[in-house]
Amino acid sequence: MNPHFEISLAGSESSFACAADDTILRAGLRQGLGLAYECNTGACGSCKFDLLEGEVFDLYPEASGLRAKEREKGKRLACQCVPKADCRIKIRTGDLYRSMVRPARFRARLISYRALTPDMGLFSFKSACPAEFAAGQYAMLTPAAGAMTRAYSMSNTENAEGVWEFIIRAVPGGAVSPLFGGLPEGHEVEIDGPFGVAYFRPQIDRPVVGIAGGSGLAPVLSIMHAAGMDESFTRDLHVFYGGRGPADIPDIPGLLGDAAAKVSCHPAVSMPELAQQQGWQGDVGFVHEFLPEKLKQPLADFEYYMAGPPAMIEAVVRMLVVEHKVAMEQIHFDRFF
Ligand SMILES: Cc1cc2nc3c(=O)[nH]c(=O)nc-3n(C[C@H](O)[C@H](O)[C@H](O)COP(=O)(O)OP(=O)(O)OC[C@H]3O[C@@H](n4cnc5c(N)ncnc54)[C@H](O)[C@@H]3O)c2cc1C
Ligand code: FES
Repeated sequence: MNPHFEISLAGSESSFACAADDTILRAGLRQGLGLAYECNTGACGSCKFDLLEGEVFDLYPEASGLRAKEREKGKRLACQCVPKADCRIKIRTGDLYRSMVRPARFRARLISYRALTPDMGLFSFKSACPAEFAAGQYAMLTPAAGAMTRAYSMSNTENAEGVWEFIIRAVPGGAVSPLFGGLPEGHEVEIDGPFGVAYFRPQIDRPVVGIAGGSGLAPVLSIMHAAGMDESFTRDLHVFYGGRGPADIPDIPGLLGDAAAKVSCHPAVSMPELAQQQGWQGDVGFVHEFLPEKLKQPLADFEYYMAGPPAMIEAVVRMLVVEHKVAMEQIHFDRFF
């Protein structure tokens, strides 16, 4: 059996068992603790902790989520550390981070693939267990034995059949994302999840705006499916989707299926030369610039769910909070590092 180590949290009575091949963050979340995190990828720094006693192995010592000075002071990232001994750590916690569905590791096989744009595809996997997650969450995928693990958001909603859908963009030169395009049907991947706190909150009685750039479309689609198919959710639904050129814009209503009738879609392309070359008749500019014109009521009236490159998320949050006085509690996002 895989050895386990005991991780205790300074300043509380809490402790949990962490397998020698599991990260401290994921092991804690699996056991219902609310350890602070966002990306699970080593980039955001939310999961930093002080190692007070014990020893850990750092899977990714170059991770950008910690500054060199912080490392010198003994700080580490819980999403990138596996224990080599029992440990006592000091880490930020909060109820927000406590998983509604406990993350688990399991295998799933590729059942279908469909190209959406020249560099993005819709991949469907099937697991033996039900697909349990909140709309907008993500999972960690390992495409093959020995390959690295990356975060990908589900684009569908939870289901008893065990179907997990992801929209994956093949990043040129990337270590993992280009591997998915070469997987044969029936191939098994490892899924670990669900994770993420930018999930749909149906109990909040505000119209919903989903904003996505590039591969950030997946969690926004998941939320629109969940809200669109919920007959008790009667508020307006909007999707703002930005790509560089027209070829980057997939058929969003087609992807929304039965939910499309309830969702207003607002695609925009950011590169005028591509818009002109490819005869684009729609909006040209950064997608968030169109919010005031398309939403036609104060932006503070809406609940926002966003995913995409960190620079896009930061620009949108700044605009919403500074210019339009939207409360931070109304904005939920995943930065795709
Ligand atoms: C919460 C979240 C959700 C995401 N959802 C999606 C999605 O739905 N669709 C999609 O296409 N993309 C998504 N991404 C981006 C995705 O996880 C990958 O970053 C992207 O596919 C590029 O991976 P790559 O290996 O091809 O590129 P690479 O450039 O090789 O790696 C990309 C990232 O992986 C991390 N990384 C690099 N080396 C290591 C290492 N040694 N150990 C650990 N981590 C390392 C770094 O943060 C790096 O920026 C998401 C990212 C996050 C954080
Ligand atoms: S959750 Fe660990 S760095 Fe983002």
